[in-house]
Amino acid sequence: MDIQQISERFSIAGRFVSAKPLGNGNVNETVLVSYVQESGQEARYVFQRINHNVFTKPLELMDNYVRVSRHIKNKFDQDTSGTAHRSVDVVLTKSGETCCLLENGEYWRAYKYLENTKTYEVVENADQAYEAAKTFAEFLKLIRDLSGERLHETIPDFHNTSKRIEVLEEAVKNDSYNRLKDVEQEVNFIFDRKEEAGTLLRLLAEGKLTERITHNDTKLNNVLLDVKTGCGVCVIDLDTVMPGLIHYDFGDMVRSGAASTDENESDLSKVYMKFDMYSAILHGFLKNSNGFMTPLDKELLPLSAKIITLETGVRFLTDYLIGDEYFKIRYPNENFDRARMQLKLVASMEEQFESMQNEVSKVICCE
Ligand SMILES: Nc1ncnc2c1ncn2[C@@H]1O[C@H](COP(=O)(O)OP(=O)(O)O)[C@@H](O)[C@H]1O
Ligand SMILES: [Mg+2]
Repeated sequence: MDIQQISERFSIAGRFVSAKPLGNGNVNETVLVSYVQESGQEARYVFQRINHNVFTKPLELMDNYVRVSRHIKNKFDQDTSGTAHRSVDVVLTKSGETCCLLENGEYWRAYKYLENTKTYEVVENADQAYEAAKTFAEFLKLIRDLSGERLHETIPDFHNTSKRIEVLEEAVKNDSYNRLKDVEQEVNFIFDRKEEAGTLLRLLAEGKLTERITHNDTKLNNVLLDVKTGCGVCVIDLDTVMPGLIHYDFGDMVRSGAASTDENESDLSKVYMKFDMYSAILHGFLKNSNGFMTPLDKELLPLSAKIITLETGVRFLTDYLIGDEYFKIRYPNENFDRARMQLKLVASMEEQFESMQNEVSKVICCE
């Protein structure tokens, strides 16, 4: 795709100079585009092709994107402390649209590149985990008072854990690829935890938990950190921002940031939850959480980590059983390996569960 041609559709001052791929995102195609302005100064923008196979309603997605990012930007613009959370700054097309639809069916959007920031693919140390968790929590706090209509669900039932298990049950029943014989142990592990897995949804239905606006993709590479100080600057990748439970955001940070191995590790003896990373994420997430989180919200954080890790295992195992339809695989049993890895992580969390809960009590005591 000719980026220069796309650039002409957006309302950006200056002259197009160059474009190069940016980051390692595996959902959208991301390009860094340089312009030179009349003053001679360089200005850089991020162009992104929205993956409309995953996000089937790009205009609804962009509606969420713009509402949420503008809400945070308004707060940033009004802040005088110099420490406020920054926001993705969406650039509209020349005709005032949030994204452009090309003749070939691709949707592209643009926003300002935040200079002097960096993302990390893998958490390197507890400080980064703490910063990322603190920044995600700030983001959640900033958007809680967004007014107007409920945001669109860009992926319906994204964290409906019980429904995800029902889909697995269906896949088990059909066993279309004759793979059930290899995975019975894993299936039983999941079914034994079925009731517990529905806890968050049950509490939500009973009115004991509150629906909020949540991010739903809380990996470290979705937080821009300051290159010099390492401090969290901005949460990006707002494709999955929608109504949900903050517990899943916290849980997914632990699942992705506190695991000892890659997601497809086949040697399960290497897989465990790193307690120091869990603790850093917990402390970051709970910083200044009073007034935002109830005692029950906090108490449920360890369980949330376990539930979303189980849910992720369910999704990988389901995909394995239905013939690898959703997740890309690089070798035949990769989805099975991924499922086993997640389930081993669940087992590791169960072993450390009391300590995980004690850590929450410690943070609450110090407040
Ligand atoms: N506004 C921005 N400023 C600086 N870097 C950015 C910005 N937006 C995205 N990036 C970089 O591009 C990568 C991919 O962007 P992201 O929106 O997360 O796409 P994906 O949905 O594919 O993960 C990020 O991990 C980050 O490194
Ligand atoms: Mg991303």
